[in-house]
Amino acid sequence: MAAELIVDSLAGLLPASLRRRFMWRPTLGDMGDLFGRVYIVTGGSSGVGFQVVKWLAASNATVILATHNMPGARKAIRDIQRDLPSVTQRQVRPMFLDQTSILSINKFAVDFKGLGLPLHGLVNAAGEAMGPAGPGADGLLPSHTLVTNYYGPFLLTHLLMEVLTASAPSRVVNVCSALGELAGTVDWGDLSGANLKDSDPLAAYNASKRMLSMFTRELAVRCRGTGTDVFAVHPGFAATNLWHKSLHRYPASRLFNVVEEWFAQHPYYGALPALYALSEPKLQGRGGLYIGPPLMLPLVLHTNVGDYWQGESRSDESCSRLYDATVKLLAGIVHVAGPSG
Ligand SMILES: NC(=O)c1ccc[n+]([C@@H]2O[C@H](COP(=O)([O-])OP(=O)(O)OC[C@H]3O[C@@H](n4cnc5c(N)ncnc54)[C@H](OP(=O)(O)O)[C@@H]3O)[C@@H](O)[C@H]2O)c1
Repeated sequence: MAAELIVDSLAGLLPASLRRRFMWRPTLGDMGDLFGRVYIVTGGSSGVGFQVVKWLAASNATVILATHNMPGARKAIRDIQRDLPSVTQRQVRPMFLDQTSILSINKFAVDFKGLGLPLHGLVNAAGEAMGPAGPGADGLLPSHTLVTNYYGPFLLTHLLMEVLTASAPSRVVNVCSALGELAGTVDWGDLSGANLKDSDPLAAYNASKRMLSMFTRELAVRCRGTGTDVFAVHPGFAATNLWHKSLHRYPASRLFNVVEEWFAQHPYYGALPALYALSEPKLQGRGGLYIGPPLMLPLVLHTNVGDYWQGESRSDESCSRLYDATVKLLAGIVHVAGPSG
């Protein structure tokens, strides 16, 4: 945190245009007044998602906090209201969504549509690292991590696409990961993740994030001209609960704690790329960008718009193939209708 204070102080000396271009940090003014605009943020009870919810609420937006932990969400809302007393109960509403369950995702989409609200932004921030072995909560797909981090956001986005395009201009922001780009692989012979369910949990995380970034890139292409822009973001290395939920089982956890203590940034900074992708007017019509800090400089360049797609995510053919295969796989389980049918 000390390093962040120094960087912030030095940044104050830069001209506003340079600061905004390279070090965008939202203030109420930067985000504009989002009154009347509606956002869904998954995983909004903690970490990066929580910061996204908080800053959207600070800018007068209505936010649906999609969570599988209702007590945690209520506490998160109380924490926001403690810091921002003007935020009302109507403005930030918790709604149940278990992203490891295809059935729960379906129900969430039906319940949200039942509210009759528009939807100007969907942030897929919920995720798990090194989650439990075995299938998703409803047993419909074999890998818990792959459902939570890939099939879940894929399905949720598609079920909400009609509302997003009807509410355009609107945006979809998928929280990806540098690990996915650097180490994630797609097993084309096992897209449902049957082999991943018993494999090294880190491999499942990396694969899920690789597939999420390929989906993001392809969806951005398919949404061109609809008024809905789709972005990938990564938060850099942020000090959140993500790894702590499971890492304590492993001997390397102590080393990780030390590395995190020294190098990870506050989740507020980790949320900046997502907030930027959601609200920056200059990004209108520029879907398909991957926004986040350069890997080694998260403290300095929070919202660099880089070309982070690596490996198979750079292949238009692979992204399109994975997208079609995913629609087919999910269609066997639930009815899926994307922007291209
Ligand atoms: N932290 C980093 O350095 C980093 C780096 C790259 C990418 N990311 C990505 O950033 C995103 C946010 O993670 P974070 O770092 O902020 O960690 P986090 O605090 O653990 O946030 C993840 C959120 O997802 C929720 N979640 C987990 N499983 C869910 C499910 N089945 N249904 C609904 N919600 C579920 C969690 O709720 P509960 O806590 O109640 O389970 C939590 O609120 C993740 O997608 C992660 O992969 C993080």
